[in-house]
Formats: sequence, C-alpha cells, structure tokens
Amino acid sequence: MKRRAHLLTSFALLLVTVLPVLNTGGASAAPPIAQSDRPKLDVPYVPTPRHIVDKMLELAAPTADDYLIDLGCGDGRIPITAAQRFGTRGLGVDIDPRRIVEARQNADEAGVTDKVEFRQEDLFQTDISQATILTLYLLPSVNIKLRPRILKELRPGARVVSHDWDMGDWRADQEVKLGNKKIFMWVVPASVEGRWQLSDSETGRSFALTLKQRYQDVEGEADIDGQQVPLQNARIQGDRISFELPGENGDVRRYEGRVAEQVIEGEGWQAKPLT
Ligand SMILES: C[S@@+](CC[C@H](N)C(=O)[O-])C[C@H]1O[C@@H](n2cnc3c(N)ncnc32)[C@H](O)[C@@H]1O
Repeated sequence: MKRRAHLLTSFALLLVTVLPVLNTGGASAAPPIAQSDRPKLDVPYVPTPRHIVDKMLELAAPTADDYLIDLGCGDGRIPITAAQRFGTRGLGVDIDPRRIVEARQNADEAGVTDKVEFRQEDLFQTDISQATILTLYLLPSVNIKLRPRILKELRPGARVVSHDWDMGDWRADQEVKLGNKKIFMWVVPASVEGRWQLSDSETGRSFALTLKQRYQDVEGEADIDGQQVPLQNARIQGDRISFELPGENGDVRRYEGRVAEQVIEGEGWQAKPLT
C-alpha cells in the first residue's frame, strides 16, 4: 500500500510540475487531439530527465551494433540520444500519437532518422525479440507484466534498463541511485534449467548434470559415479555459465562455457540436453 501510494504521488507530482512546462507550445508541440480520440495510457507521460537518460545509456553501454527498443518512448529522447552518441539503431513505440509526432520531429532535428524509427503501437504488442537493449520508464505493474516476455523473447546477454522501477523478485544486476531516482539494469540470462550430459575431454569424465535456475541464479549437482556432487560457485551471466566441481586428485575443475541452441560449449567440454 505504502509503495503504491509512493508511486501515485511520484507520478502525480511529476505530472503537475512537468506537463504544464511541456504544454507551453514551441516548435515541436504536437497538434492537439480531441479528448475522445486519446488512447488509454497504461503509464502517464513523464519524460526521463536528460541526466538520467545519460546514466541509463552508460549502464546499457550501447554500440553501433546494438538495437535499442524503448517501450513507451514519449518524445523519443532515449533512442535518439543512443543514435546520436553511439550510432545505435533503435525503435520507439508509444500508444499516444502526439508522442510519435514529437519523437519523429526530434529525430529529424537530431539528424538520426536513418537510425531510429517510431511507431504508434501498444507496447504489449511490440515484437521485442530483436532488441539487444530494452529501455523502460513504465510502472512496476507494467514491468512485472512484461517480465516473462523479456526473459523468453530477448536473447541471452541483452540488457534491460529501467528508470525508477524494478522487476519484482528478478534482482537487478546493477542498481544506481541518483538523488531520489533509481536506475536498474539486468542482463537477460540464458535458460539452462534441466538435465544435461556433460562430456569432459580434458579429464575423460562424462556425467549427468542437473541445473536449477531462478533468473540469473543457478545451482545444481553432478551425478559422478553414483554420487550427487553439488556445483560450487555456479553463475550465469547472459549466455555465459561457470561452475566448479572437485577433480579426481582433490583439485578443482572449473567449467566455463557458452550456452547456445541445445548445447553448452566450453574449452575441453560440452554439455547436451538429456531427454
Ligand atoms: C513515463 S513515459 C516515458 C517516456 C520515455 N520512455 C522517457 O523515458 O522519457 C511513458 C510513456 O508510455 C506511453 N504509454 C503508456 N501506455 C502505453 C502503451 N500501452 N503502449 C505504448 N505506450 C504507452 C505513454 O504515452 C508515455 O509516453
């Protein structure tokens, strides 16, 4: 209840302080639309302050090889800034046509229309699968609603950056506080939960591996000669997995690998799904 009250007051305050400033007209003001034609917003329009945009992009570390999608893009400032500074291609979607008019105009003024595209669209319908960076300034409930799609549809290693709101029990990989603002960053983890057969050409061992996963946290055990041996220091980051197992001579064998389609590949070892 307390958190909900905080959310409502934060947005209400911003609406009262920011919207009148934005509505004072100027060259980039979008034409008014009739009240009856206004789309139903799942999140009110509150632009991210410029210094927060900068920090969000610092955390996402975009390059010219990335593709950034901003869901609920407002005036397009996040994809436009990424395109201007880093040559990042991007897409912004917003359900409000006035925001799309503004965003396109801003992209034009910034000289990045060859890099960014803006579409009037419901963010819940947007295909996010190609994003290597997803930026959000939405609401906690909207983040939570998007969470299963983010984990399923984005490729492992994609970065998700959210202004102000977290993702419930999916712990952020990085969290930054700037004044009373927060920025969260997650790296989408590969999905590894299940049973695997690991063949280790370095030690000549082959054994079954059972992995349990909760977001970026992974644990598991290896079935070695009928003994269940827990994995040590198991970790997953994007498409990279690492863990340790005791070796045969009391030493520690460290496994580091990359998760790909139906295989985990490391140097001198490989694991394939057990059906
Ligand atoms: C808090 S603003 C964020 C704007 C921009 N991303 C930024 O950070 O400056 C949220 C935006 O989401 C848009 N929005 C709300 N519901 C939406 C929906 N269902 N689909 C797409 N956009 C939506 C609003 O029009 C608004 O522009």
